[in-house]
Amino acid sequence: MSWEDGFAFDLGEEVQMVQETARSFATNEVLPLAEKIDHEHYYPQELIPKMGQLGFMGACVPGEYDGAELSHVAYCLIVEELAAACASTSIIVSAHNSLCISPILYFGTEEQKKTYLPKLATGEHLGCFGLSEPGSGSDAADMTCTVTKDGDDYIVQGTKNWITNGPKADTCVLFAMLDRSKGHKGICAFVHPLDMEGISRGKPEDKLGICGSPTCSLMYDGVRLTKEHLLGEESKGFKVAMTTLNGGRLGVAAQAIGIARAALRDALAYGKERIAFGKPIVEHQSIQNYLADMVSRVDAARYLTLGAAHRKDSGQDYIRHASMAKLYASETARFCANLGVQIHGGYGYVKDYAAERHLRDAKITEIYEGTSEIQRLVIASRLVAESQ
Ligand code: CAA
Repeated sequence: MSWEDGFAFDLGEEVQMVQETARSFATNEVLPLAEKIDHEHYYPQELIPKMGQLGFMGACVPGEYDGAELSHVAYCLIVEELAAACASTSIIVSAHNSLCISPILYFGTEEQKKTYLPKLATGEHLGCFGLSEPGSGSDAADMTCTVTKDGDDYIVQGTKNWITNGPKADTCVLFAMLDRSKGHKGICAFVHPLDMEGISRGKPEDKLGICGSPTCSLMYDGVRLTKEHLLGEESKGFKVAMTTLNGGRLGVAAQAIGIARAALRDALAYGKERIAFGKPIVEHQSIQNYLADMVSRVDAARYLTLGAAHRKDSGQDYIRHASMAKLYASETARFCANLGVQIHGGYGYVKDYAAERHLRDAKITEIYEGTSEIQRLVIASRLVAESQ
C-alpha cells in the first residue's frame, strides 16, 4: 500500500489490474520521456500505438468497436497514472477519449460508430474537438463559425481555436452555427475526417505548460460536409457539446490529480535528501505542514473524481459532481505544484528539476474544458435546481 494508491473503497479486481497496468506503463515508458516531451515540446508519437494496444486509446469503447470496454472509474485511473508521469501524454489521451470518442459513442449513428471508432480506439487515428473560437470560450454558444445548407450538404466557414491534438488529429468533432437567431438551439455537431478540402491548421501554439500536447487552430474555408457527418440531430449540437464536456471534466480532474501527485512525490523525494539546520527538511514542521495539506488534498480530489466517475458508470446524474471534481482537483494541482516548488527552494525554480514543470502543467487544468469560474457557475446552478 502506497500513499499514491489512496482510495479506501474496493475498486474491484479488474479496475485494480487496469490501475497497475497503467502505473507500470507510465513509470517504465512515459516517465523516462517526460523531460524530453516538456523541454523539446516533443510529441510522443511512439507511445500512441502502445497505449492503443493497452486499451488506453479507446478505454470506454465497447469491444465490438475494438475498444477496451472499461468503466469511467478505470478510465480516470489510467489518465491519473499517465499524468503522474507526464501531463502532456495524459491530455493527449484524455482529449482523444473524452472529447472525440465519447460524442461519437453517445450521439453517433451505427454507421458513424463503425466508421470512426475502431481506428480511434486502437490509436491508429487521433481525435480532437472543435468548440472554442478566437472570440468565444466560456460562452460556448456565442460561436461565429457558421454552417449554411446547400441542398442536403452543409458548408462550414470559420475558425476553431485551442484544439488539443489539433496538429496531429485525423478526426474532429466540430460545432458550427446554423441559425444564430436561435442561440444555442441553432448549433449543429459534426464528425469528420480532417484531411478534407478547405481545412487548414494553424501553427502549433507555444504554451506555458503541457508542451508535448500539440494545440492549434483549425480553419474551415467552405468545407462541404454531408448528412453522414452530422452528429446527432440538426440544431441539437449544443447538447452534444455540453454532454461531452461533462465527461471531459472527469478526465481533466484525473489529470490534475496525477500532476498533484507528481508534485508531492518529487517534493517528498527532495525533502528527504535535502538537509537544512542539521536534518532532512521533511523533519521540519513547516515542510510537514505543506506535505500534510498536499496529501490530504490529493486524496480528497481523488474521492470526488472517482465518486463522480462511479455516478456516471451507474447511470446517475453526475454533472455537478464532475464539475466539483474538476474544480477541486485543478485547484489542488496548482496548490500542490506551487508548494512543490516552494519545498525545492531555488532548485524548484530551475529546469534541472521537474517541480517547475508541474506548476506550469497544473495551470491549464483550471482553464480548459471549462474554467474554474464556469465550474462554480455549473455547480451553484445545479445545486439551486436540486434544492427546489
Ligand atoms: N450538461 C448537459 N446539458 C447542459 C449542460 C450540461 N453541463 N449545461 C447546459 N446544458 C443544456 C441546458 O440544459 C439547456 O438545454 P435546453 O436547451 O434543452 O434547455 C442548454 O444546454 C442551454 O443551457 P444554458 O442556457 O445554461 O447555456 P449557456 O449558453 O448559458 O451556457 C455554460 C452554459 C455552462 C456556461 C456553457 O456554455 C459552458 O459549459 N461553457 C464552458 C465551455 C467549455 O467548457 N469550453 C471548453 C472547450 S473544450 C477545450 O477546452 C478545448 C480542448 O481541446 C481541451
